[in-house]
Amino acid sequence: MNISILGTGQVGATLGKALAAKDYPITYGTRTPDSDRVSDLLADTHPLAQAMSTTDAVAWGDLIIIALGAAAALEVVPTLDLAGKLVADATNNVGWDNGPIMGIETSMGEVLAASQPNAWWVKCFNTMGIEHVLDPQFGDRKAEMLICGDSPEAKAAIGNVCQHLGFVPVDVGSIRYARQLEHLAILWIQMATQAGLGRNFVFGTLRK
Ligand SMILES: NC(=O)c1ccc[n+]([C@@H]2O[C@H](COP(=O)([O-])OP(=O)(O)OC[C@H]3O[C@@H](n4cnc5c(N)ncnc54)[C@H](OP(=O)(O)O)[C@@H]3O)[C@@H](O)[C@H]2O)c1
Repeated sequence: MNISILGTGQVGATLGKALAAKDYPITYGTRTPDSDRVSDLLADTHPLAQAMSTTDAVAWGDLIIIALGAAAALEVVPTLDLAGKLVADATNNVGWDNGPIMGIETSMGEVLAASQPNAWWVKCFNTMGIEHVLDPQFGDRKAEMLICGDSPEAKAAIGNVCQHLGFVPVDVGSIRYARQLEHLAILWIQMATQAGLGRNFVFGTLRK
């Protein structure tokens, strides 16, 4: 499965390295494919990793990961040709008012999916510090990756990718639950930064 990652910030770069380490072919979609910064990122990712324009990366990928800042995602995603593509949306829209708050009334997941109704959308990778994709093992437990979306097939395919990274994928429902996953991300940021827990935790379910 060819994976194109749109964005080369902390999220795009970390996902690229984690997925390349599991032998997925990786291409970054970026505004500056020829820059020294992106050359360094390619060298850090994998000898076969590539960088292209966002448009070319979308054409190349089977799975497209949206790892753009919220404003960029809202501007760029509606202009892409995502019809028929599997898409994982990792974005959060974070405002700040004495602590992190939601910067969007509904959710990035719902708005982006509605802008490209012929793509197969899954909300994924957004509820934890992205560094955990490099090592999702917490003691004897694998971290859970909460995902949602309207297509069971798309959730199964992206759930498989999460499993290869070392997560237990947990399907929480349709794309409207992107709101709850994005609120959970705000809570994670609040707990990590204001409540003093630091970044070394993820949410998990206990069962008996
Ligand atoms: N940080 C975390 O731990 C974490 C965890 C989960 C989810 N998230 C969410 O994941 C998303 C990405 O986070 P990040 O920290 O990697 O963000 P970021 O560094 O602010 O931006 C990501 C990339 O977006 C691209 N970009 C910016 N403006 C653009 C524009 N106008 N047009 C096209 N591309 C543009 C840039 O890549 P190029 O310069 O290469 O084009 C940039 O490196 C955010 O929505 C964030 O809330 C973050």
